[in-house]
Amino acid sequence: MNSTHCKKPLASLLMTGVWMLLALQTQAQSSAPIPLIPYPTSLTAAQGAFVITPATAINAAPGFEPSVAALQRLVKQAWGKPLKTTTASSGKQIVLQKDAAITTPEGYRITITEKEVQLAAGEPAGMFRAVQTIRQLLPPTVEKKTARAQTWTLPALTISDAPGYAWRGIHLDVARHFFSISYLEKLIDRMALYKLNKLHLHLTDDQGWRVEIKKYPALTAKGAWRTFDKNDSACMREQKDNPDMAIDPKHIVQRNGKTMYGGFYTQQQLKDLVRYAADRYIDIIPEVDMPGHMMAAIHAFPDLSCTGGSQWGELFSTPICPCKESTFEFAQHVFTEIMDIFPSEYIHLGADEVDRKSWAESALCKELMEKEGLKNTAELQSYFVKRMERFFQSKGRKLIGWDEILEGGISATAYVMYWRSWVPDAPVSAARNGNRVIMSPGNPLYFDYPPDAHSLANIYNWKVVPEKLTAAEAKYIIGAQANLWTERVPSENRADYLYFPRMLALAERVWSRQLDFASFQQRLPAHYNRLEALGVHYRLPDLSGFAGQNVFVDQAILDIKKPIPNLVLRYTTDGSLPVQRSTVLSKPLVIKQPGTIKVAAFTPGGLRGDIYALEYKKENYQQPVATLLSRPGLQCKYFKKYFLNTGGMKSLEPDSQFVTQNIVVPATVNAPSFGLQYNGYIDIPETGIYSFYLLCDDGGTLTIGDKEVVNNDGQHAPLEKSGQIALMKGLHPFALHFIEGGGGFTLQLRYSKGSAPATNIPDSFFKH
Ligand code: ACM
Repeated sequence: MNSTHCKKPLASLLMTGVWMLLALQTQAQSSAPIPLIPYPTSLTAAQGAFVITPATAINAAPGFEPSVAALQRLVKQAWGKPLKTTTASSGKQIVLQKDAAITTPEGYRITITEKEVQLAAGEPAGMFRAVQTIRQLLPPTVEKKTARAQTWTLPALTISDAPGYAWRGIHLDVARHFFSISYLEKLIDRMALYKLNKLHLHLTDDQGWRVEIKKYPALTAKGAWRTFDKNDSACMREQKDNPDMAIDPKHIVQRNGKTMYGGFYTQQQLKDLVRYAADRYIDIIPEVDMPGHMMAAIHAFPDLSCTGGSQWGELFSTPICPCKESTFEFAQHVFTEIMDIFPSEYIHLGADEVDRKSWAESALCKELMEKEGLKNTAELQSYFVKRMERFFQSKGRKLIGWDEILEGGISATAYVMYWRSWVPDAPVSAARNGNRVIMSPGNPLYFDYPPDAHSLANIYNWKVVPEKLTAAEAKYIIGAQANLWTERVPSENRADYLYFPRMLALAERVWSRQLDFASFQQRLPAHYNRLEALGVHYRLPDLSGFAGQNVFVDQAILDIKKPIPNLVLRYTTDGSLPVQRSTVLSKPLVIKQPGTIKVAAFTPGGLRGDIYALEYKKENYQQPVATLLSRPGLQCKYFKKYFLNTGGMKSLEPDSQFVTQNIVVPATVNAPSFGLQYNGYIDIPETGIYSFYLLCDDGGTLTIGDKEVVNNDGQHAPLEKSGQIALMKGLHPFALHFIEGGGGFTLQLRYSKGSAPATNIPDSFFKH
């Protein structure tokens, strides 16, 4: 514990106090919102502040012990000793009281005056959420063991708050790569800070079985360990450019002369983790994924499958066999132990991505299907899920499955976790069937998809409830969660980078009723400081003022805009990765030679942001074409077909053609998968270097004249790529090709001239 604060001279302490008051006044005077995330339902600022000193006591009604402990931990971290508790009715106090009138689950009220802090809730979970709001009202330094202040100041205000959705979740796949209990504790604590309440652990998969099952020790003795796979090799390749991609050495062992990767949790470790989470009012939802994704288990117990083994099929591995009673015995024993560890009301069966070929070929399955009147293997899968649900229900638990459980028919009591963005009607039909639905569509909630400058807005502005549902049907959508699949997430730092700050946007999306992205962005920088104090390896905000591919005619000026002022930019020109010792980029850089500049932002604490490799090429201004064409807009060819990339449209006849005024996808383009080719001219108003930013899901390419300016092709989640071109004033041939594979598309093209910020392209630029 740090005790240096005791030795701080009085003058310095007074200065800290004065500084804090000044800071508070400044905050009250400016219109900046108090930086709470998620933002409360109602907040009214008042004059003055409550000062917490070591003499402040906590006066709590019975039943709020975990909240008292959380408050005590907060200051103990900094002061080395917790706040005292009291039952006296006088003195400067933080009062935790029950208010039966607060009936919304997790709801709470806070009143802070100069004399007292009052926290009120109808139930313990609400009180704990209130304490997290107090935590965020304290400066980020409170999170550090080395915090120095003797007093902490809370601004006078009243808050009344309750969540918009009951399910506010985060998922972690601990099977593909393994994560330590200490990382899970950190994750739980960070979720608590942002009022998230469900941690879904994907405990088993083809690549590893991570939970001790006492009846079947081979599941972990064999199934928890593997040699490096192709994803590990990909991580190792990427490690050269990004140290976060190094495989965590904690989980690498030498066994019988072989290097093995893996690990598992003992039941006791998980029970302790459940308690740790429960103290923060977070449920841990265990997933043991079956009947598919069971290769690790089948390798330990080959009889579990219909074929006596498990191989990779076209996409997925051989599943367990639902046509043998011994499979159900196994599954029920496993889940009995799982339920013993996890008291959660919900147990996740997985049931996604099943290769049912081995069932179709099995004589046992043919017999069972005849006996049970099952028409196909989808119904056979449904038979498995329904039987497992009856077993869960016999133990008082509710079954969750991925949305594939809808396919062969589903009981109305199962909970559906929606993930397949390309099946947009799945949550609609589930809700209409009376199933509770948890939304976690790949776009935007698969956090393993790499983040970019748009991800926060995409999450924040995403509609939790599908538009087709009526208000009555919408009640079946109980919330949302973000998933982190870890095939390519080999380290805790990489997981942090993918979770943060996207987790904050999700937290506000599912908690707050009034959403305001501009306000969220204003509140976010204070949280970067808090995350850094907590040791979170979060993703720094994006730099701007350049394109991925840059060009110059005589010289270029690299003038990077810093998204937050305290970042330091550092760069290299020799191909090496920028590090803390690299040259500081403190003013615009003049570039006269072709080459690559690698630049990254660093926080004062040393955290490094994304490395940008900016290529610079010398080129001449492209000459305009002489044409008399002057019809507004672009010609657009529409192909109703599935394409892997834009090249697939080449030499095909379009299904139809029309004119658009800009790069937009008209409502008449409604095939589930399609391709579009926009062709015409772009009318450049002034000679200069132009940057184009192509954001698309799926692929797109932009060609101006004979130069491919941006290649953002292939099937992918929304991703922006940019490129530059030197253009003379006048008309230039323009072609943008775009494909949508299914599951919702994004298409946006913006431009900028010189170092101006990117904006939309005016309709008047386009001619055909
Ligand atoms: C999933 O992503 N297979 C649920």
